[in-house]
Formats: sequence, structure tokens, C-alpha cells
Amino acid sequence: MSNFAQYQDGVYADATNGRLPHLPYHHDALRDLAESAMEPGPFGYVEGGAGRERTARANEDAFARYALRPRSLRPGAEAAGGLGVTLFGKDYPTPLLTAPIGVLEQVHEEAELAVARGANELGVPVVLSTAASTPMERVAEAADSWWYQLYWPSDDALAESFVRRGAATADTKRLGWRPRDLALGHLPFLRSQGTANYFSDPEFRSRLKADPEPGGVFTEAVFHFLGAFASRSLSTDNIARIRRWTDLPVLVKGIVRGDEAAELVDAGVDGIVVSNHGGRQVDNAVAALDALPEVVDAVGERATVLFDSGVRSGADVAVAMALGAKAVLLGRPWVYGLAVDGAAGVEHVLRATLAELQITAELMGKDVADLDGSDVTRR
Ligand code: FNR
Repeated sequence: MSNFAQYQDGVYADATNGRLPHLPYHHDALRDLAESAMEPGPFGYVEGGAGRERTARANEDAFARYALRPRSLRPGAEAAGGLGVTLFGKDYPTPLLTAPIGVLEQVHEEAELAVARGANELGVPVVLSTAASTPMERVAEAADSWWYQLYWPSDDALAESFVRRGAATADTKRLGWRPRDLALGHLPFLRSQGTANYFSDPEFRSRLKADPEPGGVFTEAVFHFLGAFASRSLSTDNIARIRRWTDLPVLVKGIVRGDEAAELVDAGVDGIVVSNHGGRQVDNAVAALDALPEVVDAVGERATVLFDSGVRSGADVAVAMALGAKAVLLGRPWVYGLAVDGAAGVEHVLRATLAELQITAELMGKDVADLDGSDVTRR
């Protein structure tokens, strides 16, 4: 069993020798540091949510409504606190993945390559966004383990090409209404940012008269990208199509309703990611954590449920797992780590989250994979 909790001893030992940690451990402090390090446009893009940002706030607040129930005794000889999980028949050392986040070039010049290096250190898989800043083939070389998130384009031939180039997950019909970005007129796609997977795609390029210009503003490629970005008419028929294109497990991300999760499982998906995309799409929507028990109930043993939106600490990961998530995607926290210290910042955030998760699990008397409804209560 990897000892992530030991990290804490190292921090105290270093501090005793006069070396204090150079990055904060509290999410809010890290966010503030990132805000001072970033331009207002990119910071607003990352931090902002849809509308009055009630969904984004609700995601974080929801965690305070659940309380963990620590247990002192542990039957059996093994120490508690194992972080390993099995997902789709594969063993992973921890239940954490990095959430798919687009347009990382506005956060750090090394973008996904820095994320991969930070995550590799801890055996954490990265989930690559379709709107990434690095073509998926380069990420595949850099990351020890990666999953692919598909924004289903309006053009099926392009969707098929993406899936065949990568692997599969799906969602989001259009960008949400985001006042911070509107106020600053900040839409990175217009400057060709977040388009690397499109501009490098043979199917996409075959529709253009000229080769895409890197960094071009309002070019033919940008307009074609905006038209192709996401299909407005997704249905369970899309699942049958994606099944023809890949043998890999297919998950759908962005589900907050039990009835919809059940429909998707009937249509043959392998997994559901309960998520409202960090409150970026619909304002005043249900907090993702509040939707998790309903989806877990609706899906039962028929598919694997993962979770994101509002996770800010190891204790939050434990709550989501006690409510039935089999793994958890971390979002904004590692983006702020990337902003302030590149790969080392991503590693810092993941390492601290895993250390807290392991310490929490030990004090709960369980391995994280065994956390269940008896370990959590409404506050
Ligand atoms: C996202 N998210 C996202 N999701 C996705 O499926 N594809 C994408 O390209 C993006 N891009 C993106 C950019 C930025 C700046 C953010 C903050 C988020 C949503 C992401 O995967 C995840 O669902 C949320 O980040 C979870 O919410 P928290 O925990 O970050 O609040």
C-alpha cells in the first residue's frame, strides 16, 4: 500500500529544518495565490461559473451538509487507509483522477504536459479534454495513464475521428452563460486556444480551404471550430454509435438525475460521472453532491458511478466515496496548482489531497474502497 500519509511527516521535518512549504494547503489560499499570479481573463475563466454562480457555490456548500462518522476499531490485522480502487477491471493506486479542463495554455505554457508530469508522480490518471491545448497523441506519450473526454461535435465524422484517436466519454451541448467571461470579453477559442485536438484532426482539416493558423484570431479554422464544437442534439442513440467506434469503457459526464442515469445505463454505458461541470453550465442547479445518492440508487450495480464538482480536500473525496462514488475527479484545485507552480504545483495539490484522504480513511477505520453509507450522515 502506498504511504501518502507519510508526506505529512516530511512537511513537518522540513519545517523543523527551516524549510516551510512554498505553496498553501488550503484551497482558498491557493486560489487567492493563483488569482494574484494569473491575468484577470484566464482567472475569471477558471474560477467563474454560470449566471450568479449559485451552482458553483452550492457544490462546495453541499459538502458541509454531510458529516463523516469516524470509527476507532478496525477488525482484521491490516491497517486501514488503503487508497486503491478497481475501475472497469483495472487497478488504480488511488481513487483520484484529474478532471478534464480545457484551454490550459492560458494557465501555464506547458499545459497538459505539466499536468501529466505532476499526476504521473502519484499514479493519478489524467482525463484529457477535447478542448485541450495539446493534441491527444502528445498527451498519450507524456501521461502514464489517461482517459479521454469527448465533446460530441456537430459533425459525426469528426466525433468518430476523435474517438478513434483517443478513447471515450461525452457531454455539453453549448457553453453556459458566464458573466465573468462576458464582462471581460474573454473567449479563448476565438484566439485558437483550446483547439489543438481539432486543428490536428485530419477530418477537421479536410473541411478547411487552408491549413489552420496557430494562434489565429477569427480565422476560417476558428469559425469552423465554433460551428463544429458541440452537437445540440445528443440522445441515447449516440451511445450505440460510440460503441461501434471503440471497445473501451464509455462513461457519460455531467449527469445529476437518477432517471437520466438509468436511461443511459439501459442504453449501455459503463459509467456515469455525476457532475454539473463545476457550476459552469446552469445557474441555480442542484449541487452535484446532492444528486449523487439519487444517481447511485438508480444505477445500482449496473454501472460505475464517478463524481466531481466542488471537491476541495481529501475529506471531501471521502464523503463522495461514502455516498457511493467509486472514484473522484479533482477540478479547479489542481488548475490553481498549475497556475502557480506548473507540474510541481499539480503534484503538490494531488499529494496533499491524497495525504489527507489517507489520514481520513485511517481515522475512519476503513480502506477508501470500503467506505459506504454507514460512514456518512446528514449534518
Ligand atoms: C472545466 N470542465 C470541463 N469539463 C469537460 O468535460 N470538458 C472541458 O473541457 C472542461 N473544461 C473546464 C474548464 C475549466 C476552467 C473548468 C474550471 C472546468 C469541468 C470539469 O471537468 C469539472 O467537471 C469541474 O471542474 C468540477 O468542478 P470543480 O471541482 O472544479 O468546482
